[in-house]
Amino acid sequence: MTIYSGRGENLIGPLLTKAGEELGLEISVRYGNSAQMALAILEEGQNTRADLFLSQESGALGALIREKRLLPLPDDVLNRVDTRFRAPNGEWAGISGRTRVIDYNTNLVKPEELPQSIHDLIAPRWKNQVGWAPANGSFQAFVTAMRLLEGDDRTLAWLNAMKANGAKTYPSNAPIVEALGRGEIHLGLTNNYYLYRFTAERPDLPVAHHYTQNDAGALVLVSGAGVLDVARDRQEPALKVIRYLLSEPAQRHFAEVTNEYPLVADIPIPEGRTPLAALKPPALDLSRIEDLEGTMKLLNTAGLL
Ligand SMILES: [Fe+2]
Repeated sequence: MTIYSGRGENLIGPLLTKAGEELGLEISVRYGNSAQMALAILEEGQNTRADLFLSQESGALGALIREKRLLPLPDDVLNRVDTRFRAPNGEWAGISGRTRVIDYNTNLVKPEELPQSIHDLIAPRWKNQVGWAPANGSFQAFVTAMRLLEGDDRTLAWLNAMKANGAKTYPSNAPIVEALGRGEIHLGLTNNYYLYRFTAERPDLPVAHHYTQNDAGALVLVSGAGVLDVARDRQEPALKVIRYLLSEPAQRHFAEVTNEYPLVADIPIPEGRTPLAALKPPALDLSRIEDLEGTMKLLNTAGLL
């Protein structure tokens, strides 16, 4: 069977090798960027070699749903994953999750000052104190989610207000967490797993997670899997791989090795981390986080790229 994987080989390769061994399957994997992989499948049409598409992000799966290229998954697969983290009509299931988060310097910010919503970040208290990474893909997914939740006008107004409030631009997420550790900024818009990379080396780093509720600031970004229409008469190997990725050992691997959230209930996560069940991400069909072009336009209009 053939997998097109938008997830990097470093994140998923070892698990796919194991899956092949344990399931007795010969698996060939083509790696690449998720959006480009989805595009390749659309261009290859019915000649694509892909039986299974693993995506780093849900929007690329949504793009395939819109072209009716994914088969509905069976209930035993879908039911392993919370309804929020799969396609409403069952064409893909989430495999692992990451969250958007506001990280803060615990020496410089009192807990009672922490913003209740991303709109609080434009207050004078945070003038020149918020770090962000407008060129980063996860940040752009956050902006796309905000557009879906609040509309383009409000999102553009927020981007402009953030800029006017002196939001500091970093090239990517890791430098944001570093800058927070140095006290160069008070807050940073980032992804949850970066902090764990730093605290593994420096447990005393004065940086912690803070989650807003029901807005794009607490968005859960999921990787997911879908079976291609061309595999209709030979679905079983692809389904076996998905079931493997949703099995307890694979879900533990995501929690412990890649610092992600398992999406199957009751899988333990490392101590001290907020369980996914305690978060209040915004209600959003994650397949819709797709219009990167529209988001780039807004970021350009705001002069952020
Ligand atoms: Fe990342």
